[in-house]
Amino acid sequence: MGLDKLIDRRQKMQRVLSGIRATGKLHFGSLIGAVQNFVDYQNRPDTTGLYFVADYHSLTTLDDPEQLRANLIEIVKDYLAAGLDPERSIIYAQSSVPAIAELCLFLSMSQPLGDLMRLPTYKDLIRKNPDRVSLGLVSYPVLMAADILGPQANVVPVGADQVPNVEMARSLAERFNNRYGKTFTIPEMMEDMVKVPGLDGGKMGKSEADKAIAITMSSSEILARYLKHGVTDRNRTSMNEPGNPDVCQSVYPMHKIVTPGEAESCEIASQCRNATIGCRACKELMVENLYKILGPFQERRAAYADKDKLVREILEDGGARARAMITPTVELVADRMGISRFKSQT
Ligand code: TRP
Repeated sequence: MGLDKLIDRRQKMQRVLSGIRATGKLHFGSLIGAVQNFVDYQNRPDTTGLYFVADYHSLTTLDDPEQLRANLIEIVKDYLAAGLDPERSIIYAQSSVPAIAELCLFLSMSQPLGDLMRLPTYKDLIRKNPDRVSLGLVSYPVLMAADILGPQANVVPVGADQVPNVEMARSLAERFNNRYGKTFTIPEMMEDMVKVPGLDGGKMGKSEADKAIAITMSSSEILARYLKHGVTDRNRTSMNEPGNPDVCQSVYPMHKIVTPGEAESCEIASQCRNATIGCRACKELMVENLYKILGPFQERRAAYADKDKLVREILEDGGARARAMITPTVELVADRMGISRFKSQT
């Protein structure tokens, strides 16, 4: 291949980056909303994917070292079972790249504190963790900016709740480039993750366990949970009454995700409107379809149960690749800001 072509190709290559915190076990929402999305990106020929576990970020709310270590390994197993391939994507632990923490420090010097405290993501975190408002929690988005800008990512797929944090990364990059000369790629926002509803209709979040479906649950456990907690059309009191799928909180929205084909979910909607299907049968059908996705995942996941060693090797390799990608940028940043390393050149 000629040099021109190679350069041309490089320029078209996208760097897609995203991460998940290791604060707990994944739930169905993060599997479908986030990890599945990573796998879709991986299958595009023009992208390099960087998918990491944000263990530094986890420290903002988790202070159990054993749990943090275990969660990290388990999430990587989930990545692998979902189809992330360490040959095609770079899978790493955030802490394998200490330069990210240093970049966070550099970026923090130009980040106005007031902007951080006004962020909806910050308000949400302090609402959930009122007794843990640490400096690290306030600077959470700066660390996230370091995750994104360190490897010069162009595309950052995140759920709607994380969009303000990615915006913050963009403005930090712009500010730095204006002050010190072009250093960072300005990342694009990709708010394209499917929002998976929890059992009460809110987002299915890791921390809100009773609203969530753990990816380890059996189909009967999932059904039991929907039968007990799955909020539907609150005004429908009996199955003989017509329901309104548009206000159904957790079951119809989930049908749209797990029940393949628009037609089929329209069929369910009209059955609900005609009172020819009750919420119980509708839940049964939805869980059956959900499990058609989750069941095969669980089978693949089971094969990784005793593969901690393999996971560690993948993380070592991914960590080395991520360091090679990120450290030069951080060195450039340090130099541009006037930091002297006084390292001998040998
Ligand atoms: N804050 C993200 C979340 O809670 C996780 C995360 C950390 C992240 N660093 C990131 C996501 C960088 C995208 C890019 O979901």
